[in-house]
Formats: sequence, structure tokens, C-alpha cells
Amino acid sequence: MRGILLAGGAGSRLYPLTLVASKQLQPVYDKPMVYYPLTNLIESGIREICLISTPADLPRFRELLGDGSRFGVRLEYREQARPDGIAQAFRIAADFVGDDPVVLILGDNLLLDSEPLRESVRRFAGGATVFGLSVPDPERYGVVELDSAGNPVALEEKPLNPRSEWAVPGIYLYDASVVEIARGMRPGPRGELEITDVNREYLRRGQLTVRRLPPGTLCLDAGTSSSLHEASVAVQKAEEARGIRIGCPELAAFRSGWITRETMAAVAAGMPRCEYRTHLEKSLG
Ligand code: TTP
Repeated sequence: MRGILLAGGAGSRLYPLTLVASKQLQPVYDKPMVYYPLTNLIESGIREICLISTPADLPRFRELLGDGSRFGVRLEYREQARPDGIAQAFRIAADFVGDDPVVLILGDNLLLDSEPLRESVRRFAGGATVFGLSVPDPERYGVVELDSAGNPVALEEKPLNPRSEWAVPGIYLYDASVVEIARGMRPGPRGELEITDVNREYLRRGQLTVRRLPPGTLCLDAGTSSSLHEASVAVQKAEEARGIRIGCPELAAFRSGWITRETMAAVAAGMPRCEYRTHLEKSLG
């Protein structure tokens, strides 16, 4: 399984924060936002990762994450010239995907426990798998309607009158046919290549699985100033409650055995004195 981390977009709702730094580089509590989805991928066993962002922001991501060796992964970078839709990621990264299945995770998706993704990656057997998250305001999301057995029957993008409470968060698993599907698509009414249309195609083929996230799963959206602040508070609380750092890619790589103790010690030693460094050093035991 490969991973695409999509971190472009306009970030207009976070203006003026996003005037000089993209949304996915903004802090969520004590780390840049993009650390969280990157950690989800690492904790799910994904080591080949393609990060897509805007021409203006890509150099910043390279500066922050490098070639990925610090995290035991191989990171490559691609440009999305304009925010023409989430599904465009598969056109941009077509040769990266090749014949392999792929996880697409949005750079502003904050899933504070990787277990549902790890489990879905392990069980993936073709077609598409998306998640369902019960939310009070489904009209803000792509929404999936489920039958009594939990099978998907319809998908709608930001419906005015949602037919279910099940939002589809920004983490999707696809087999390699997603590239052909994305190539054959046309932009929707918003002028974008919609990820919901990709999922609809898998539904039409009878190949869409929806995994409902357990109640209480912390899967947050950080697209507005207030939700960005709420996400920081949620991370701080979750870290205190669990006694661990969430969204720490070096630690995830170390725990997976992808970087050695010596590498992690060297990475920590290269940082200025800060809480993050102290945490890495403590985790070395
Ligand atoms: P959105 O939050 O829907 O859009 P945005 O980030 O441009 O923000 P705003 O609406 O405030 O202008 O995007 C969801 C995620 O997908 C986000 O991480 C950005 C990313 N994205 C791209 O990388 N390219 C795209 O073409 C689109 C539409 C989104």
C-alpha cells in the first residue's frame, strides 16, 4: 500500500493565517498539522509516500520533512498547480501509484488514533474503503447513506438536507484502478474533480466498503479558525489523558522499527532544546 498526502488547496477560510504559510503547516497544539496524517500513514505501515501541494508551499514541506529518511519513509513531492479538486491527486501521482493500492489522506485530516486506518490497510482486498463518522452537521461533508446492514446505498457532496449522519472523512483507500477512474472524470458543479464522484463510481461497481468509526473517535477538521483552535485543545487533552504524544512521526517510525535508536537519538540531538526534543529523548528510555 502506498500513501498520498494531499496538502494543497487555498485555505481561504483560515485567512490571514494562510497568507504566508499553508493550512497544513499551521500548528495544531505543538506540531505542524501535516505531522498528524503523516503519522497515521507511518503507523499504518505505509513507507512510500507522495506529498502533493501548491508550487508556492511545496518548498516549505520539503524543508520540514526532507526525503522522509528521518521517519523511515520515502517521501516524494508533486505540484498541484491549481486547487482543481481532491481527485486530481490521482492524475498527478498516477506513476507513483502504478499498480499498487493507495491511501489518500488529506493534510488537514486529524485522526487522533491510527488504529482504524491500520486495521483497514491490513484488511484491504480491493475496491475502495472509506470511513463513516457520525457528526451533528453532515451538510458540511461528503455524506454516505447506509442500509440496515451498514452497506452504502448513496453518496452526496455537502447536501442541503443530508439523508444520514454519516460524514466521510478525508482518508480513503483505493485499488490501483482509481487512477483510471480519476482520468475519466469531469469536474462537478463546483468546477472540481470531486472525491465523492470517485467513491460513487466504486459504489456503482459494487466495490465500496464503508467502515463506521466507533463513537467517540477523534477525527477532526481544522479548516476554520475556531475548528483549528478546537483541534489544538483536543490534541492537548488527548495527549494528557493518554500520556503519549500524538502525531509524532519520528516516534512512530522508531516504534515500527523503521529507524534505529541511534537515528532517533541523532535526530533529537539535532533539535534545539524544546519539549518535542525532550519527549523524543525520554522515549528512547
Ligand atoms: P478544503 O478544506 O475543502 O479546501 P481548502 O483547503 O482549499 O480550504 P478553503 O475552503 O478554506 O479555501 O480542502 C480539503 C483538503 O484537501 C485540504 O487539506 C486541502 C486539500 N485540497 C488540495 O490539496 N487540492 C485541492 O484541489 C482541494 C480542493 C483540496
